[in-house]
Parts: sequence; structure tokens; C-alpha cells
Amino acid sequence: MVSYRRVAAATLVAAFSIFPLARAHAEADAESLVNALNAVFGAHPGQRAAHTHGICVKGNFVASADAATLTKAPHFNSKTPVGVIGRFSMGGGNPEAPNGQKDNVRAIALHFDLGKGNTTDLLMISAPVFVAKDPDQFLKLLTTVATKDKEKIGEYFKENPNSTRQAQWLNARPVPASFATVDYWGVHAFTFTNAEGKKQIIKYKALPLAGEAAISDEDAKNKDPDFYRPELKERLAKGPAQFKLIAILGEAGDPTDDPTALWPEDQRKTVTLGTLSITDFEDAKTCDAGIFDPTNVVDGIEGPENDKIFPMRSQAYAVSFSRRAAP
Ligand code: HEM
Repeated sequence: MVSYRRVAAATLVAAFSIFPLARAHAEADAESLVNALNAVFGAHPGQRAAHTHGICVKGNFVASADAATLTKAPHFNSKTPVGVIGRFSMGGGNPEAPNGQKDNVRAIALHFDLGKGNTTDLLMISAPVFVAKDPDQFLKLLTTVATKDKEKIGEYFKENPNSTRQAQWLNARPVPASFATVDYWGVHAFTFTNAEGKKQIIKYKALPLAGEAAISDEDAKNKDPDFYRPELKERLAKGPAQFKLIAILGEAGDPTDDPTALWPEDQRKTVTLGTLSITDFEDAKTCDAGIFDPTNVVDGIEGPENDKIFPMRSQAYAVSFSRRAAP
């Protein structure tokens, strides 16, 4: 599958960096980032270095009629439902990260089945921003947090206010009652190209069709750390958990190189791309057999050119995968 080819390629890139001098100056690379994630959250054999606590699911995606006006990507042009394998998860590398944690992101990762063993992937989190603008800043954040030195950590956030944006955003909102009742964002800016060659910068967002639903901070603290699983089971017994997937249309001047920068979303036009339906649980092995890779895009979709986080993700996921898949 595409994911495996990419894992192999990315592992090679990570192993034979063409910038050995830069590495000597402790610039972030995939290995150092995964090591730093392990330093913060612990290394958990056989498990992901981040988004460790998760649930594998499956379902389908039905493209809207409007999606084709923006992109020629096959899953956004299909006249029939496209199969989807997905994984809901909590952010961070704690395998027991409580579902009720307020200042943590929920996430959904998707493989769209393009047929003949090919997939294209989309990863989204329940906040419009990431915690670092580039890999060096992310490494600095992780290594500082790993010291557990409150003074140093406070200093870091004072000097790097963009790293506080995600937590501020999460803390200003209630704890989602379910993986199926919260908005998700793709965070990076992608470029869509339609059949006429017209290009449009977009950001992905998924909105729960059941509406947003939340629980109080007090209730969240008293909940079982794994309460999203039985909640999802009960929900799926009644019908699919559905999301409207939309493209937020970027305008001139909207930043495309910094995943900590917000777009003025309420002032932007949107186009509905289609409906995602999560219909059932899937064996965890199906999700763990490869990686959900944000750079695994398809003709009609391009990743951001100058966003340094974007390509680094693919490499870091490959390192995490090679470690968790090691016998
Ligand atoms: C340089 C920055 C980043 C690093 C080093 C990083 C690191 C990681 C690692 C190591 C994994 C586990 C991969 C695996 O074993 O399969 C992971 C998973 C994930 N990351 Fe990131 N990440 C970064 C940025 C982001 C951003 C910006 C997003 C926002 C959408 C994001 C969303 C996710 C999601 C949703 C998963 C879970 C995938 C799954 O369920 O398998 N990450 N990340």
C-alpha cells in the first residue's frame, strides 16, 4: 500500500540526512523529535509516539456535487461512496490519556480507499492550530517540557506565545462529550486544483452532523478515562457518526507556512466537500499496520510548500512506525 512505500522512503531520508552539520547543531530531525516525544510521554513498546490512545473505525465518504468544482482528486469526484478506515485519538503519547482531558486535542485520521490498494490520507485535530510553527520550535518545546522544570517551561511559553494558542483555544471551550460531537481541522493549508487547472488554497474542517455536544469540567474529571469507547459503541448501534467535511477557502495574505497561525475563518467562504460516515469499529491491527500520512495526497491536492512542519510529519511518523513495528 502507499503507506508502506512512503514509510520506506521516509525512513531512508531520516537515516541519510544530507545536512549532517546542521544535525550537529541540534536542529530538529525526525529521530530527535520522536526521542523528545518519548522523553515527555515515555516510550511505550509497540505503540505510537504520539496520539497513542485511539480507536480504529471504518465507514465511508460521499462527495458533494460542489467538491469537483475545487479539486480533481478522485475521492472528491466519486459518484459512489468511498470506503474509509479511520482512527480517533487523543493527542500526546500517553496510552491512557483520559478522554476527559480538557487541554488536549481529539483527532481523526483517515485513509480514503482509492481502489487498487491505493489510499490518500487526511489527519485532523480538534483545534485549528498546532503548538509549534516549525520542527525546531517543536523540539525546543518538547525538550523544555521534558525537563519538568516549571521555571524553564514558563520561560519557554513567554518567549514563544504562538505555542500557547492551541491550549488557549481548547481551554476556552468545554470538553467534548464524544469523538463524534466536536469540530476537527486539518490545520495545514493545502492547494486544490480542479479539472480546468484552477488552483485554490484551502483548509479542511469537519463538523459533526449531530451538532457539538460537551460535558462540564466537573463531569469530565469524574468520567472513566476511556469513556469515549462505550459512548461510540452506543452511538454507532443507533446509526453512523457523521461529519460534514468542508473546505475553508483561503484569501490573499492568509498564512500558509505556519500551522500556529489562525485564518479569520468566520470571514472566509466555505465549500462542502461531502459527508463522512463512521459506521463501525475496525480491528486495531488495520490501523496499526501502516501510518496515516498527511503527505500522502493525490493528484488535485498539494501540501503547503513552505510549512516546515508538514514534510517533517511524514518522516517522524515513519520513525515512530519503524519503532512500533519492530519485533
Ligand atoms: C513536526 C510536527 C509533528 C510531529 C513530530 C508529530 C509526531 C507524531 C507521531 C510520532 C505520530 C505517531 C505516528 C505513528 O506511529 O503512526 C503522530 C500521529 C498523529 N499526528 Fe502528529 N506530529 C506533528 C504534527 C502534527 C500536526 C500539525 C497535526 C495536526 C493535524 C498532527 C496530527 C496527528 C494525528 C491526528 C495523529 C494520529 C494518527 C493515527 O491515528 O495514527 N500532528 N504525530
